[in-house]
Amino acid sequence: MNVHVLVPAAGSGKRLGSAISKQFLPLGSRPILAQTLLRFGSLPQITGIYLIVPEAERTFCQRDIVDKFHLPKIVNVVAGGKERQDSVRNGLEACNAAQNDIVLIHDGVRPFFPAAQIPPLIDAAAITGAAVLAIPSQDTVKKVINGRVLKTLDRSQIWQVQTPQAFLFSRIFEAHRRAQAENHIGTDDSALVEWCGWPVAVVSGSVRNFKITTQADLLLARALVSTDKDALL
Ligand code: C5P
Repeated sequence: MNVHVLVPAAGSGKRLGSAISKQFLPLGSRPILAQTLLRFGSLPQITGIYLIVPEAERTFCQRDIVDKFHLPKIVNVVAGGKERQDSVRNGLEACNAAQNDIVLIHDGVRPFFPAAQIPPLIDAAAITGAAVLAIPSQDTVKKVINGRVLKTLDRSQIWQVQTPQAFLFSRIFEAHRRAQAENHIGTDDSALVEWCGWPVAVVSGSVRNFKITTQADLLLARALVSTDKDALL
């Protein structure tokens, strides 16, 4: 059984207010995206990594990310699509996986994912067909409509879902194929598997595994790196 990693990084990513996509900003000694890819490349369970970027940035990413930082196990730099779901589907089509292989899908802007949780995540996906990293919600979550609280959700049942998300290739490929045929958009990849009526297992994630999206996230990430020498490789 091979384990392929897809890293969708084909968003415009300009929410940080910078002219440059967030994944190319430096974190420690390398760009955020390079840190994420290096952490995967160092894991013995991983067979190959597919980086998915905007068509116009493929050459730049191959030369200035993959080659420059000597990133191991990158099999291909694939062109993304209009929406994240299109980018992931392009990656699934490019990765040449066997039906029983495992595919991990991970945001390029989560460089602190817990490496120790990857083997249990892969095992859970092999058994259940799909598995996600998640942490119990730290905040109370309320359903709000038009500025008024409609209801308070039972916090013990609320989990915040992270990536990597792991899948049997046959399941995730079929879920994406059906979603495309029916013009269905899910908020993450596991939501497409749920939409098909198939089970998704939950494996403990980490509070450190946050997505670097805002300026505050970037400050937090840099503070983590400067105070914990083991935060990155
Ligand atoms: O925009 P959001 O933070 O949800 O994006 C999550 C991930 O999906 C990012 O790593 C982004 O680069 C990627 N993405 C993509 N193709 C798109 C849009 C987003 O690969 N068309």
